[in-house]
Amino acid sequence: MPTIVPAESSQSLAASLASAGVGSLAVPSYDRFADGELLAAVPEFADSEAIIVASTITDSAHIELLQLQDAVREAGATSVTTVIPYLGYSRQDAAFKSGQPISARAMARAISTGTDQAVLVDPHESAVAEFFSVPTTLVSAAGELANPLPALAEPLFIAPDGSATALAETTRDAYGDGEVDYFTKERDYDTGEIELTPSDAPVADRDIVVVDDIIATGGTMSGAIEVLNERGADRIYACCIHPVLAGAARTKLAAAGVERVIGTDTIECAVSEVSAAPAIADALLD
Ligand code: R5P
Repeated sequence: MPTIVPAESSQSLAASLASAGVGSLAVPSYDRFADGELLAAVPEFADSEAIIVASTITDSAHIELLQLQDAVREAGATSVTTVIPYLGYSRQDAAFKSGQPISARAMARAISTGTDQAVLVDPHESAVAEFFSVPTTLVSAAGELANPLPALAEPLFIAPDGSATALAETTRDAYGDGEVDYFTKERDYDTGEIELTPSDAPVADRDIVVVDDIIATGGTMSGAIEVLNERGADRIYACCIHPVLAGAARTKLAAAGVERVIGTDTIECAVSEVSAAPAIADALLD
């Protein structure tokens, strides 16, 4: 049976994968040197495959992942699979100005050197998988977002920009009822200002589910909620795969009048109401 090695960021998700029969859990340990450098360690592997589960939510989490990959090889793992529920830097999938890196590619290259295969959950752009030099499987947890939703009145599932429409469709399909629509979004990368242009779909007195891949600053989601409220929507549910919720994001959503925020455990936090484990387990047990 494979051994699951959770990073500090993904302990609950790793436990859910163990409960789903993906493998047994190893308990890593951590030290820090006086200069602040991390030193992760894992138990010996007895001819077992390693499955590392690590959301790279901070720069330090990236380092931890690279150390865990190296440590499991040293400890005798026969193969290494790296599950990255949330891939940090995935929104930097292009150089926006000359002289800038393609950061997602840089991360993918580094991670590829320590693994035989990778699994990503709903990366910001699926093309990110092409930056990895090992076989990389994409899975989606968007269907899970429908599970906590109550009975909805004339439901409308909205992507706050066109690129999230497939996620909104998947959530709607899992819910089993409702229409799908999307807003057009323009972001000024110098000021951070977002301009959302809604479609003509009627929203008055309807329950709305806004589905996006990431809620980071909350600017996109709170902007969508404000527009929907101005147009007379009834309850508005904010759903996302990756609840980054940086700074005052959760407060922005509350101030905009959200009914409930539903995220997955690709980033483990207070709104992680559903788990990406079933989607990941399906891929690993396939
Ligand atoms: C952008 O294209 C993504 O799909 C999200 O809409 C975006 O990352 C959300 O960021 P924020 O919460 O900062 O508006």
